[in-house]
Amino acid sequence: MGWENKIATTLQWTKEISNREQKEAVAAKIAERVRDGDVIGVGSGSTSYLALLAISRKVKEQKLSVLAIPTSHEVSLTCSIMGLPTSTLLNARPDWYFDGADEVDPNKNLIKGRGGAMFAEKLVMKSAPESYILVDSSKFVSYLGEKFAAPVEVDPRAVHLVETELAKLGVKEAQMRMAVAKDGPVITEAGNLILDVRFNRIEDGYEKEIKSIPGVIESGLFMGYRPEILTT
Ligand code: 5RP
Repeated sequence: MGWENKIATTLQWTKEISNREQKEAVAAKIAERVRDGDVIGVGSGSTSYLALLAISRKVKEQKLSVLAIPTSHEVSLTCSIMGLPTSTLLNARPDWYFDGADEVDPNKNLIKGRGGAMFAEKLVMKSAPESYILVDSSKFVSYLGEKFAAPVEVDPRAVHLVETELAKLGVKEAQMRMAVAKDGPVITEAGNLILDVRFNRIEDGYEKEIKSIPGVIESGLFMGYRPEILTT
């Protein structure tokens, strides 16, 4: 059984990836960047998955040695199935990082976190000297929040406090993210909840202001990171 089939038996969503052709085209671009000995930070989501697949093929064909720093258990599992060795930020530093995004504005600010992995994604992105955001054409927006809510990961004990503080920032709506079966909230890898937040307008300082609310672990606003945007 090939990698893709092995992974699909565990991660069903990999069979139905939206805009797959565009995502594969941009995945091929990032695979070109891989060099022997690279330590690579790996984001989460379907575009990152396709990029990891392209990278793994190249690594195998050219017998390269690379080390991956995953941003979720899912990516870690995928690396294991593909035979890519992994490490953590405690033992290695990424030479570069790649990831997808939900929205990219004209100043390269991002909304991320539809997969709920923004805490680890921000940690690894910030630890890398170079970051590449891989996006299909649907991800470009004229302002952040145009299509998606901004996710905020919250310690369960702090949900009411965070909702109250967010209201002061001009929030239109903050919805607890629910599991697909709607039988309970989404619980992140760290045991937290996610509030999907719609603002009247996302201002420059919001990432820091949201992070400063006690109980907020991280938000999916990535403002001022200036990653390189790769697209088709
Ligand atoms: C996960 C993320 C993803 O990068 C983002 O949601 C984009 O996902 P996809 O590549 O599946 O469109 O931030 O936390």
